[in-house]
Amino acid sequence: KFDGLALTPPMGWNSWNKFSCDMTESLIRETADAMVASGLKDAGYEYIVIDDCWHGERDSLGFIQPDPVRFPSGIKALADYIHSKGLKFGIYSDAGWQTCGGRPGSRGREYQDAQRYASWGVDYLKYDWCNTEGLKAEGAYLTMRNALHEAGRPIVLSICEWGDNQPWEWAGPIGHLWRTTGDIYNCFDCEYNHGTWSSWGVLQILDMRKDIRKYAGPDHWNDPDMMEIGNGMTVNEDRAHFSLWAMMAAPLIAGNDLRNMSPETIAILTNKEVIAIDQDSLGVQGFKHIDDENFEVWVKPLAKGDLAVCFLNRAVEPLDLNFDWKSNPMKDPDFDYTFDFTRNTYDLLNVWSGKQQGTTKKVLKASIPGHDVLMFRLSAN
Ligand code: GLA
Repeated sequence: KFDGLALTPPMGWNSWNKFSCDMTESLIRETADAMVASGLKDAGYEYIVIDDCWHGERDSLGFIQPDPVRFPSGIKALADYIHSKGLKFGIYSDAGWQTCGGRPGSRGREYQDAQRYASWGVDYLKYDWCNTEGLKAEGAYLTMRNALHEAGRPIVLSICEWGDNQPWEWAGPIGHLWRTTGDIYNCFDCEYNHGTWSSWGVLQILDMRKDIRKYAGPDHWNDPDMMEIGNGMTVNEDRAHFSLWAMMAAPLIAGNDLRNMSPETIAILTNKEVIAIDQDSLGVQGFKHIDDENFEVWVKPLAKGDLAVCFLNRAVEPLDLNFDWKSNPMKDPDFDYTFDFTRNTYDLLNVWSGKQQGTTKKVLKASIPGHDVLMFRLSAN
């Protein structure tokens, strides 16, 4: 596969987290307008993805059609509109006979659907895993990958299989990103029980799937699910959520209402330094350097010998930080990176204040608010 379509983690917006099935073509157009007007496009957000429930019935030849009430102008017109804004367009289907929302799935229709998506101008396909009894995940995703290839249009393939079949072990040559967990829930620290399944807060997602960072890299990313920034968590929690997704080299797919954003939400989603850490060309996912109950330190090697360091306070109460860089050499457990602060001194850029904050020669003293982070970019000086 290495086709260069996702050399850095994809950035965009998806309808599901905020709107679930309740979307129309006007919402999607307004979202594209807002992505441009709010500065998200300039910050790097690119894809507008319609998730489950855009579908209507298949026609007499078996081609999928959009819901005629919600998308009366059709999908091609919508894709054209999004392209006219300099953005890219994504769509959603499922490897099974029905989507999770009960709409027609692509099973047995993979080539026909891929051809239709290509003719509409689709640039990104999120491909889900509901109602797939009897299917093998790797084969099912390979079939769609081949169908997209045959359709002849470059389309990013987002594998949404929740990590149950260890996609990190086989999905690299097939898709550009693969979900590693169940669905995110709009909370920082909770599990939400839906009855037969659960969805998960930011910290719960962070704690899942150890030891898979070595499988990620340019064109094949671990995907810890779309973001909940601007959907009701506190500003501290949203900031921590965005920081941690950047440390994980996660796809940055906003999931809020872009038409109505607070200045704080916009500032978080468009923070250039944090985005640069996520999008760093080295493409190495961060690792956990310290795990001490409510205190964690995450480290992400960056291009040109830089690194990002994120101090996370998982508790509700503030945390007093007293961190001696020199007694904390940071060794990457999977790749050949070591940062030794007795041998090299680094300048500290606080990526949230935007200010230089001394060097690694000095012990770092700070207070981290509850459910928040302190995050730096370190450059050798
Ligand atoms: C699954 C996916 C979600 C979303 C819904 C749509 O739960 O994991 O991200 O696409 O289906 O029904």
